[in-house]
Amino acid sequence: MTNFLCFGHRGACGYEPENTLSSFAMAIDMGCPWIELDVYVVEGELLVIHDDSLERTTNGEGDVMASSLTYLRSLDAGAGQQIPTLREVAELVDKRCGLNVELKGPDTALPVSMFLASLCDCGWDGYQFLLSSFNHSELAKADPGFRRGALFQKVVPDYFASASSLSAYSINLSRNLVAEKLVDEAHTRGLKVYVYTVNEPDEIQRMIRLGVDGVFSDYPDRVLSAMGDS
Ligand code: G3P
Ligand code: MG
Repeated sequence: MTNFLCFGHRGACGYEPENTLSSFAMAIDMGCPWIELDVYVVEGELLVIHDDSLERTTNGEGDVMASSLTYLRSLDAGAGQQIPTLREVAELVDKRCGLNVELKGPDTALPVSMFLASLCDCGWDGYQFLLSSFNHSELAKADPGFRRGALFQKVVPDYFASASSLSAYSINLSRNLVAEKLVDEAHTRGLKVYVYTVNEPDEIQRMIRLGVDGVFSDYPDRVLSAMGDS
């Protein structure tokens, strides 16, 4: 099962506050080969947070994009931690696992691409990055030198038309969309299939049986354990 990838979803957010340094540290400590995180850009700074608004994951109020960087960085994102910058996450990771950067906010493709290029100048391998987004037009603006994952949440008539227009490396599917035929066709076309968010042990096993290439999980230890059993 060495080729099956485990992506720590928002770190190990079943155990630690999502998209915080403690969550990413836990995923790495578990031996997770990849972490996934969500990014916005505010005043030129890449910030790691999932929602458009602040209420669910911080003690703040309002929208991320309507807030100042100073305000955002003053907030508690869980257990007394700040909303991290992408640079802080990269420093924590220090090349120990791959980074799946999900472009969540507007106009993130270019600053993320530039930042990842700067990491490559510091010894990271470009294959340690996967850029993904539900916003395919934003993802299309990312540096084509980095791998792209086309995210899908709902059934669409043709997953492969979108993937092809993005020159995608992978299709990243909601678990409700996964079917054997789709997985097989993706593989025939040379695409990886990654599935989110897979937390229950029987669902992890089902994904392994379906032949997908990896899963995003809030509980990376469960995936790593299932891989050991397979
Ligand atoms: O990239 C997989 C997954 O993170 C996509 O959904 O809402 O958790 O960002 P979401
Ligand atoms: Mg995400």
